[in-house]
Amino acid sequence: MKVGGKQYRTVWMEDSSVFFIEQNLLPFEFRIQQSLNYRESCQAIRSMQVRGAGAIGALAGFTMAQAFLEAENIADPGLAAKAREEIEATRPTARNLFHAVEKVWEAGLISATYALSAALALADKDSEDCKKIGEYGNSLIRDGFRIETHCNAGWLAFVDYGSALSPVYLAHSKGKNIFVYVDETRPRSQGARLTAWELHEEGIPHTIIPDNAGAWLMFGGKVDMMICGADRIAANGDTANKIGTFEKALSAKAAGIPFYIAAPLSTVDLNCKTGKDILIEERSEDELLYAEGPDEEGIIRKIRTASPGSGAYNPAFDVTPAELISGIITEKGIVRASGEGIKEALRADEGYETLKLNIL
Ligand code: MRU
Repeated sequence: MKVGGKQYRTVWMEDSSVFFIEQNLLPFEFRIQQSLNYRESCQAIRSMQVRGAGAIGALAGFTMAQAFLEAENIADPGLAAKAREEIEATRPTARNLFHAVEKVWEAGLISATYALSAALALADKDSEDCKKIGEYGNSLIRDGFRIETHCNAGWLAFVDYGSALSPVYLAHSKGKNIFVYVDETRPRSQGARLTAWELHEEGIPHTIIPDNAGAWLMFGGKVDMMICGADRIAANGDTANKIGTFEKALSAKAAGIPFYIAAPLSTVDLNCKTGKDILIEERSEDELLYAEGPDEEGIIRKIRTASPGSGAYNPAFDVTPAELISGIITEKGIVRASGEGIKEALRADEGYETLKLNIL
């Protein structure tokens, strides 16, 4: 995607350094950060400087490659395994992170150069997959559609294009007249900060709505479809996504509005038979108790907005049962949210089983 007329990916690697768009500063400041080693890259994932399933997947792959390169440089054979543990402990829910680490790990057992090639190939694949998701998803969007989305599953959440927003970008570029309702997505406000910024940059008509307005708008006949991203999809189609997604899916079902999930197949986890097996990240209570934004000098400040005597519980994701999902838009087509649908998509993805061979 372009920012200020220049083409960017959210995360990329040059030599042994990783570069990324610092998402915690957006939309107030656009800054590229450099991470010199796997420890700094782990911190970037942990602190959500890079967030969103595909983006942290690509970064995790690069981080694993950085560890293999360092291990080779300082001749420390135990370093890569230690780094793998550290990377896998950064954030638990997005499947893409583990998918990338597994692939780069296998390649790194041959050599650090293979690890690097694998990481670069995975990032390229993430971008290509999201582009295809856009093409399939666009077929669902009719001229005049008003689309609601939750959190940020735009290009910032991937290497490029995005999942839920990729069809929206394509529909807009094809001249369809569309409008997007952006859920603010408390507590970190990925909708109000990141999705709104992306849509503004692309000149797509949109408005931010309170998280709790979805049902009201849907029953008021203001929403034609909802598209959300995914952080992990279980073998039966149950889908983990940003907290609040489940409620939106319930509202959409009750209002008779199609509710789609858009995600690359790297988000599917066959080891999770159902959504009950998906580990849900719990984040710091500070995300609820404080709000942040720039002061008059542009310095980002945190202020307490909740009653000082109270604590908070902050689950970062929820699981939407498959039966509430109208379909899953993947890079291999739109499939039913069911065991059969998932299998069908994986069967169609020749590269899924052979990705390692392709890289090597
Ligand atoms: O906690 P985040 O911001 O990393 O959450 C992930 C997400 O951005 C969302 O859940 C998104 O809708 C799916 S990831 C493309």
